[in-house]
Amino acid sequence: MTTTWNGDEYQARFDHIASEGGDVHGEAALVRSFEPTAVLDAGCGTGRVAIELARHGIAVTGVDVDASMLATARRLAPEIAWHQHDLVSLDLGRSFDVVVMAGNVPLFTPPGTESALVAGVAGHVRPAGRLVAGFSLDRGYSLDDYDAHCRAAGLVLEARYATWSRGPYTGGEYAVSVHRKP
Ligand SMILES: C[S@@+](CC[C@H](N)C(=O)[O-])C[C@H]1O[C@@H](n2cnc3c(N)ncnc32)[C@H](O)[C@@H]1O
Repeated sequence: MTTTWNGDEYQARFDHIASEGGDVHGEAALVRSFEPTAVLDAGCGTGRVAIELARHGIAVTGVDVDASMLATARRLAPEIAWHQHDLVSLDLGRSFDVVVMAGNVPLFTPPGTESALVAGVAGHVRPAGRLVAGFSLDRGYSLDDYDAHCRAAGLVLEARYATWSRGPYTGGEYAVSVHRKP
């Protein structure tokens, strides 16, 4: 799927939810539970997850291919390292304790690039580190495919949840997957 994003409009949706008392940091909370020092927010969009992690003292790097999303991220947190790059061909020359893909990232990479996307982000997970990703399962990219792509990239499934707050996964239409690099 190829989407044209408007970063400020995208961010406004979350600001509205937060202004009404909603929790927009479930993804960051799960990532924080692994006590990482360094996190790559892969497909960071406007930086919702990375900025919250940075607020808790975690060193974050954000990567997204979309200029509008990144413009909003840079406006909100100019001190964070944001990179405009395709995750499919990413090589930052370093690895992270956790790489997180929040907000259906694999559903927005061009069709046919999903396995390269997973390989691109998996290459940035340090040994014994984790890739954490949540996406809907009713939009053409299955968990079987995702697990196979993770396996091919050297990652092993550690846990699967229905929600970012670790609700048990019982076969629903959304999953949060935690894969580990041995
Ligand atoms: C729905 S947004 C999620 C943004 C953010 N992670 C969040 O949860 O708020 C999906 C993002 O994935 C990014 N994305 C999808 N495929 C990508 C790719 N191959 N390389 C870099 N970014 C990608 C899009 O540009 C978009 O910003």
